[in-house]
Amino acid sequence: MEKKGVSLIIPTLREAQNLKKLIPILDRVLGQNGLHFEILVVDDDSADGTIEIIEELAETIPVSLYVRRDMQGLSSAVLHGFRQARFPVLVVMDADLSHAPEDVPRLIAPILKQEVDFVLGSRYIKGGKISRNWGLFRYLNTYIATWLAHPLVKVKDPMSGFFALKQELLEDADFFNPLGYKIGLELIVKTRPKRIKEIPIFFGMREACESKLTFQQQLLYLAHLKRLYEYKWYFQVQFLLFCAVGGLGTIVDFSAMFIFHGLMGMNFEIARFPSFLVAATSNFQLNRMITFSDSTRQKWIRQWLGFVTVSALGFLGNFFVSTHLFNSHLFFQRHYFIPVFAGSIAGAFVNFTLSKIAVFDSSTIYGLTPGVKPFVFEKNIRQNKRGRASDKAVIHEHTEK
Ligand code: GDD
Ligand code: MN
Repeated sequence: MEKKGVSLIIPTLREAQNLKKLIPILDRVLGQNGLHFEILVVDDDSADGTIEIIEELAETIPVSLYVRRDMQGLSSAVLHGFRQARFPVLVVMDADLSHAPEDVPRLIAPILKQEVDFVLGSRYIKGGKISRNWGLFRYLNTYIATWLAHPLVKVKDPMSGFFALKQELLEDADFFNPLGYKIGLELIVKTRPKRIKEIPIFFGMREACESKLTFQQQLLYLAHLKRLYEYKWYFQVQFLLFCAVGGLGTIVDFSAMFIFHGLMGMNFEIARFPSFLVAATSNFQLNRMITFSDSTRQKWIRQWLGFVTVSALGFLGNFFVSTHLFNSHLFFQRHYFIPVFAGSIAGAFVNFTLSKIAVFDSSTIYGLTPGVKPFVFEKNIRQNKRGRASDKAVIHEHTEK
């Protein structure tokens, strides 16, 4: 690794026209500041002339292009760029000129001065601004997205896509497995920078081409949030989700009883059985899909049987605790919702613990989804790469398996 300098990572998807403008400005701005630098464009097979444009720019500017043929998205593009980077300071920015290239020296200054490890370009601190052309929908959207990320990080603008960090931070983190757009958030949560600073930026409108932030990306963001929450508070998140599913199960149980007993006239005691099965099945399905989505998949019927058994045991626990408490004191007989409530809690604990141990064995690292290969940065991996990096700009074709 070269001691001084900056690697700029620019993820792109059909940004040819913007790159043509952005890269010469970056070259000028960084050159004027006397910085060693390289620009790494990581493109997801835009096929819009990006290759030709970079080839031409590369004759005079230290810019490389990585083209990936298997479309893996913004976040993974950024991590891919990090893998190739040669310098100890990394900068990430959009290609569309909504992040001002003139801001880069200001963004990296606190890191070069060894004051902090991570600098975030922020729209929501004093001096930060957003282009006036933002519609209400985009405002609201970002507001909710930011609010949802708040328990995870302390910064004001965790959604920002314009930031700089020390390369070292990556090697100290366990792993990365981001989804979708919010790579900055992923990096802050996983690298836990001790010293982080937000500097105000003006977030402009993109100059040309169109935004790639789709509805699908917003759904990916929710899935990404779940992963991050699990990474930080694994058991708590699972238990909460489990209880939420259980709560929903009560409603399912009520509805099933309404059908079997109320509408079909089935005997109350007998109706309890099919009703229990319907509710347990719905709980099972939701837990399998959401609460324990990180557990290894087994045969549906086997897991279902396990879950129904566990639910029955949970009910026994509930029954035992509630009746025991009810009979123990006159006070509880008067306020019988207390034993009922205590029973539910006990049942939920039995249910949760047994489900976790016996039904959904999640033997994975917390917050790591099976089947998703995480990014790990290790010193030795990087050293191997070193041998291959070259000063001259090149076009790399890349397909990651
Ligand atoms: N390689 C690659 N692959 N690049 C992508 C992909 C992809 O699938 N999707 C988007 N990009 C690139 C775009 O070409 C652009 O350079 C950058 O990532 C950001 O994409 P935009 O489409 O311009 O996103 P945006 O302006 O809506 O979102 C920006 O602002 C958000 C904050 O409101 C980004 O900076 C986000 O990261 C940020 O959260
Ligand atoms: Mn943009």
